[in-house]
Amino acid sequence: MSRITTSTLRKMKQDGEKIACLTAYDASFAQILVEAGVEILLVGDSLGMILQGQDSTLPVKLEDMVYHTRMVRAASGDALVMADMPFMTYIKPIQALATAGRLMKEGGAHMVKLEGGAPMVETVAHLAEHGIPVCAHLGLLPQSVNKLGGYKVQGRSDEQAEAMLRDARAMEDAGADCLLLECVPSALAATISAALAIPVIGIGAGPHCDAQVLVLYDMLGITPGKRPKFSKDFLLQGGDIRGAVRTYVQAVKDGSFPADEHTF
Ligand code: KIV
Repeated sequence: MSRITTSTLRKMKQDGEKIACLTAYDASFAQILVEAGVEILLVGDSLGMILQGQDSTLPVKLEDMVYHTRMVRAASGDALVMADMPFMTYIKPIQALATAGRLMKEGGAHMVKLEGGAPMVETVAHLAEHGIPVCAHLGLLPQSVNKLGGYKVQGRSDEQAEAMLRDARAMEDAGADCLLLECVPSALAATISAALAIPVIGIGAGPHCDAQVLVLYDMLGITPGKRPKFSKDFLLQGGDIRGAVRTYVQAVKDGSFPADEHTF
């Protein structure tokens, strides 16, 4: 594969080619993912729960994200490395710029991800004006779990769905390079994906998104506790870690994942 850029991702969307994304937190896994054809490596702040054993993503520090992004970037090959901006590190546009700067300069990220809709438009525009590729995360926002009252499907009412579509358009207009939808009804994700020119990455958002992402440890069946409904244990099918990741990439590409049972 040649180097994946924001233009590659847009072209894949235009061509109707599905994009495979997985979380990665270190070089060894990053290499396995790249060899299997994963186009986007997401250094998610889910590492707070997955690696650090915290009960949410809120305690994750910028230093943690820079450290893990650097490890992933070291083995990222031609894949695009996207890094999460942690909780409370992008309250104002100027702070977001400093955070993104560290993730890119010290961590080597190609793109940063932030959570939030309308209140984040100015921040996305500010980052875009400074040449920073941004993914805007809508739907279930794990950094707002305390405000949301739990990890719940978002956008079920007509009012919420209209607001999410409005936010998605505003993010694209502000200069976002892609959108991530977490835990939203499949029909709403399909509408948003069709309405935007930028690629839409789904997790628990049904099969009509342009890209799919899962938390790596969930799809390998090694996250303690109950696996989320939208995830699948690919290790069972793939036999070993490399086989599991290859099976996931194939299933994303041929549209067989996510199936109805993974969808809201
Ligand atoms: O942090 C993360 O892993 C994420 C995914 C849930 C998309 O943002």
